[in-house]
Amino acid sequence: MLSMIVIATTNKNKLSEFREILKDTNIEIRSLEDFGPIPQAVEDGSTFDENAYKKASHTARILGVPAIADDSGLVVNALDGAPGVYSARYSGERATDDENVAKLLKNLQGVTDRSARFECVLSIAVPSGPALTYEGSCEGIIIDEKRGSNGFGYDPVFYFEELQKTFAELSPEEKNRVSHRGKALAQVKEEVHMIKKWLEQRLFEEKPPKPDHKEFMDNDWS
Ligand code: IMP
Repeated sequence: MLSMIVIATTNKNKLSEFREILKDTNIEIRSLEDFGPIPQAVEDGSTFDENAYKKASHTARILGVPAIADDSGLVVNALDGAPGVYSARYSGERATDDENVAKLLKNLQGVTDRSARFECVLSIAVPSGPALTYEGSCEGIIIDEKRGSNGFGYDPVFYFEELQKTFAELSPEEKNRVSHRGKALAQVKEEVHMIKKWLEQRLFEEKPPKPDHKEFMDNDWS
């Protein structure tokens, strides 16, 4: 029986969204904090898919239990897809949301095509490697001035035409209904009982190779 799954995020908002989705499944939900410090996955992939899988499989391998992770960001058409996987560090390694937004608006000065989308990829991985992938996206327009104070990241300049508001002007419930992450999580929710069976089967099938001492001795561990 599958009894536990780890949510590979330190972001409190994401953690509660995941918990909400998985609450009726009899799966014990753990966060990274329940395990103490583990080495961080290196998010050096060139796609959201790669990075989400890296985070999920890294965590599952280290902790020996199935893990869920997501990767997301803003894709701007006139900037050839930037900031993309660099969304969190668009303006530098420790950039704040304000700095990232400022750089985005600067790069879009005088640009007429303001179309953009948020993308999210969710990966559910088992310790032996296999993973399931869920995706969600949401189209919008980048406006020149910040509007609203909810949300985070690029929300104040991401205008969602259908509701005629920026993401930062939406309530958390409104945003979850239409957002990239909300859509990906909704698919997980729809399929959660199948996912649970898939995970159980993968764990049952898993046969870790017997440690090979010769291979160990042949390696340079210095
Ligand atoms: P991550 O998925 O936590 O790595 O987020 C990557 C970055 O993409 C965030 O730091 C934000 O800059 C941006 N981003 C992702 N999702 C959203 C969103 O829902 N609103 C605003 N910005 C977002």
